[in-house]
Amino acid sequence: MHAKDSAPWWRSAVIYQIYIRSFADGDGDGVGDIAGIRSRLPYLRDLGVDAVWITPWYPSPMVDAGYDVADYTGIDPVFGTVAGAEEFIGEAHDHGLRVILDIVPNHTSDKHAWFEAALAGGPGSPERGRYVFRTGKGASGELPPNDWQGMFGGSAWTRVPDGEWYLHLFAEAQPDLNWENTEVRRDFEKVLAFWFDRGVDGFRIDVAHGLIKQEGLPDVGESGDVLEPTKREDHPHWDRDGVHEIFREWRKVADRYDGERIFTAEAWVSGPKRLARYVRPDELQTAFNFDYLRAPWEAAKLREVIDSSLEALGEVGAPATWVLSNHDVVRHVTRYGRAHTEGRGPRADETAPLDLDMGRRRARAAALLMLALPGGAYVYQGEELGLAEVEDIPEDQLQDPVWERSGHTSRGRDGCRVPIPWSGDAPPFGFGPDGAATWLPQPEIWKDLTVEAESGDPASMLELYRAALRLRREHPALGEGDLHWEETPEGVLLFSRTPGFVCAVNLSGAPYTLPAHTGVLLASGPVEGGALPGDTAVWLAV
Ligand code: NOJ
Repeated sequence: MHAKDSAPWWRSAVIYQIYIRSFADGDGDGVGDIAGIRSRLPYLRDLGVDAVWITPWYPSPMVDAGYDVADYTGIDPVFGTVAGAEEFIGEAHDHGLRVILDIVPNHTSDKHAWFEAALAGGPGSPERGRYVFRTGKGASGELPPNDWQGMFGGSAWTRVPDGEWYLHLFAEAQPDLNWENTEVRRDFEKVLAFWFDRGVDGFRIDVAHGLIKQEGLPDVGESGDVLEPTKREDHPHWDRDGVHEIFREWRKVADRYDGERIFTAEAWVSGPKRLARYVRPDELQTAFNFDYLRAPWEAAKLREVIDSSLEALGEVGAPATWVLSNHDVVRHVTRYGRAHTEGRGPRADETAPLDLDMGRRRARAAALLMLALPGGAYVYQGEELGLAEVEDIPEDQLQDPVWERSGHTSRGRDGCRVPIPWSGDAPPFGFGPDGAATWLPQPEIWKDLTVEAESGDPASMLELYRAALRLRREHPALGEGDLHWEETPEGVLLFSRTPGFVCAVNLSGAPYTLPAHTGVLLASGPVEGGALPGDTAVWLAV
């Protein structure tokens, strides 16, 4: 038995993100659902991931694709039923897969019964106390209470007919909850327990860094962006100290259950030291490493993020996790296919030339780098197929609220949310029954990137991921553990892990002569005569 077999599962888990609307459609309405996920559980088991994270499946008007929740203990009919969800959780466990849900505590839908009661209750009512209502500025309160901007564009305040304004850091249909309110706190603890009782293994916490707002709601004085971490440590609504008290309480709820139930923070904060505060021993177990996601395809920068992450997280005893893509950022095949690779990626208004072959080559190398690092990792559905961002969705089919709220200046995030291709030569590529139009259109060229087309092709991205995940499970050096950097020329990353493992990644333009090794375990591209070409990674036995 490896030492890693006795460590808690989440310290080295590979968690597969299921964006439920776009994973698999069981009932033919063009939108993914629980029945679809159930039918694909064998695929996920064989891929070799440890857990799935499912984006919100609760009843929702779908203004923000389910991140506007109308009932935290239900299932939206478009996705299935609570009974179906319970069966799914059991089946996933039977396949050896853990299940992480997405909890959205910063805001509800404006159709949530709590918000409807707050509107009906009127100014000063206890129901209104669950949300952030204020009177406006100006002679008759006609101006918003402060200068805060919604992350999807426009003011973060909307006025209701009785004259008060409510806060929404995201869309107007997503009113922010007031986390100073003890009923809000108690209700969310009940929601956690509801799903823990049904066997879920944890939660990804949406906007974990946003729950607490500064007293008095002072002006922020700068414009926001949903995924750009603030550089300020004393921002009026991001990353305030008070959020940690909430998560310490949540941890107590999780610890009442057996089997290592966990939380993962979605916290866009400034740097690893701030992130590490979320994963102190009595708080959450893990947090997404967005600094890693945003790092450019450059050896020195990647190494810097890896080192600073391992150091800051190590100081609080938390494992690192690594992530390259999710449903909010440009798919990394596309990010890495452009000259400027830093950040979460430009959208379709981007005019810089795109070299998808280069993007895929780098994405292959990036997968081997990520999966060789100490700790856990996230895989976003479709990245294992090498899907690129879909940048030409017709404007009249765009669904992301960013498109409208930005006044049609930003196309938003739909390009990474297109239903994934499973089989066949034409849309819907096995996503659902033939003939059903998918909720976002799929590109014809995906016929070469279906699970069916890639399976058994040793040169495919899918077989690379399958092989890497298999090796990661078997090899005692992989998962949590040490990392030792070795000397290299500029532009090359080379590290060893014990026992007997070396990972080399060549991000330079010139071939790199590999160090002595006893065998090649896996390579992202051709390695001939002991030389590693540019944009290629290799795992070596030493
Ligand atoms: C982060 C989620 O990942 C994103 O999709 C959503 O729009 C915002 N939080 C608001 O809930």
